[in-house]
Amino acid sequence: MLRFNSVDFDRLTTETLVIPVCEDKNIHTIQALSSAVKQAKSLKEFNGKKDEITILYNLPGIKVGRVIFSGIGKFEQIDSDTLRSFAGKIVKECIKKNLLEILIVPPNAEKIGEMETQKILESIMEGACLGNHIFDKYKTEKKDSPLERIEVLVTPETGKKYSGLPGRVETICSGTILAREWISTPSNDKRPENFTKSIETEAKKTNLTIKIMDENELKQEKFGAILAVAAGSNSSPRLIVLQHKNENADKTVVLVGKGITFDSGGINLKPSDSLADMKMDMSGAAAVAATLITTAKLKLLKSKTNLIGVIPVVENMPSGNASRPGDIIKTYNGKTVEIGNTDAEGRLILIDAISYSLKQFKPDILIDMATLTGACVIGLGEKIAGIFSSDDKLAESIIKSGEKTHERCWRLPLPEDYKELLKSEFADIHNMSSSRWGGAITAALFLSEFVEQTKWAHIDIAGPAYTKKETAYSTAGGTGFGVRLFCDLLENI
Ligand code: BES
Ligand code: MN
Ligand code: ZN
Repeated sequence: MLRFNSVDFDRLTTETLVIPVCEDKNIHTIQALSSAVKQAKSLKEFNGKKDEITILYNLPGIKVGRVIFSGIGKFEQIDSDTLRSFAGKIVKECIKKNLLEILIVPPNAEKIGEMETQKILESIMEGACLGNHIFDKYKTEKKDSPLERIEVLVTPETGKKYSGLPGRVETICSGTILAREWISTPSNDKRPENFTKSIETEAKKTNLTIKIMDENELKQEKFGAILAVAAGSNSSPRLIVLQHKNENADKTVVLVGKGITFDSGGINLKPSDSLADMKMDMSGAAAVAATLITTAKLKLLKSKTNLIGVIPVVENMPSGNASRPGDIIKTYNGKTVEIGNTDAEGRLILIDAISYSLKQFKPDILIDMATLTGACVIGLGEKIAGIFSSDDKLAESIIKSGEKTHERCWRLPLPEDYKELLKSEFADIHNMSSSRWGGAITAALFLSEFVEQTKWAHIDIAGPAYTKKETAYSTAGGTGFGVRLFCDLLENI
């Protein structure tokens, strides 16, 4: 649980006090704290450099028995992610020490760089809350338990002014954590039917309306591309529609998320190394579902926006029934596609979901999020998403939201002349480019052929959706990339 603590410094009672320390500037005004920091800095091993940690016990003038000092580097270089990382790492450290509660003292500065008080508090709480997530559902012996209480020390005035902040941060982080848990769940426990049920269960706790189409309905409505990808699996596909309706809405936003619960590649079976983490191929779906659930809980949206999540959920497997390379299918909007490669399945389920969204909801804005291409990871690495958009303003808003939440997006182009690479001799379009190069771009261009005139953006999260090793405020596994970004974006568009 996350909350503010405004008790007088001399009357504090907590297990552990956490103090961020700068290398080159005193950022604490409480006298006892400044002296404590001095004392810590007199130690050879502690200078306030990033990631240095030292613990002192029974300090004079401080009633709390244990004080953890944590270096955050040079003052000028502090940004919101420095604070998130600081808080996340400290929480992890305290979990390892079997502690139950901490009280963090934020830097006492009106402004750090561009950050004002609200952003400073928000970043610290976010890092702490996200760092407190442990994924040990599958461990027989649970080694660690999360902290029970995380508090941030503020003056009574600040506490009052931002009284809604801890609850809000906690809800948004729970959304990120929900997405993480879905992503980290192994594919044997999230076949399309199970994953859909789990989304439904979570969505039912809110006032979202839920519609689920099963295989029969998908056949009736001729979702040819979704069905073609699902053909090889024993699990049947679903299409989930989550809706957040506002009576006076004058704008409709649709989010589409790729939900491949396991991507084997199909008949174009992936090599062993590439199969390893393909349980994460539903990260776009997880981010979209968690975003809708979070916005519903927070009543975050301006009353003017109708928000809809459209989520195709499919397992991509090889079998005697699987689609073959060379097969030609008829998609939901009637166009035909030649399947050059059954491993380019994400774009297939997405175009049916996109065409359905356009027909059903006529959105003003459509954004899809997908772990779509290895090429995007090669281009931008494992921490930055690729973003493609036909609309400069929409692209800029997404990039800006990502900067705020440190879910970084880098814009890539949609060059008209590359569309040639998707030509098919036999069908309207090919799902596979005729060139090896620029795979993230050609995948985005393929999608663009189905979005018509709608304002659209595509976010390729193949890199940042998943991490093999834990980071400052994420466990190993799903990162929940996109949830915080979407929440920020939806509040601002
Ligand atoms: N799910 C993969 C993309 C992916 C790769 C996600 C690495 C996360 C990490 C996608 O379905 C895929 O297989 N893409 C192919 C496309 C190719 C066959 C045109 C790829 O990127 O190799
Ligand atoms: Mn694939
Ligand atoms: Zn895939």
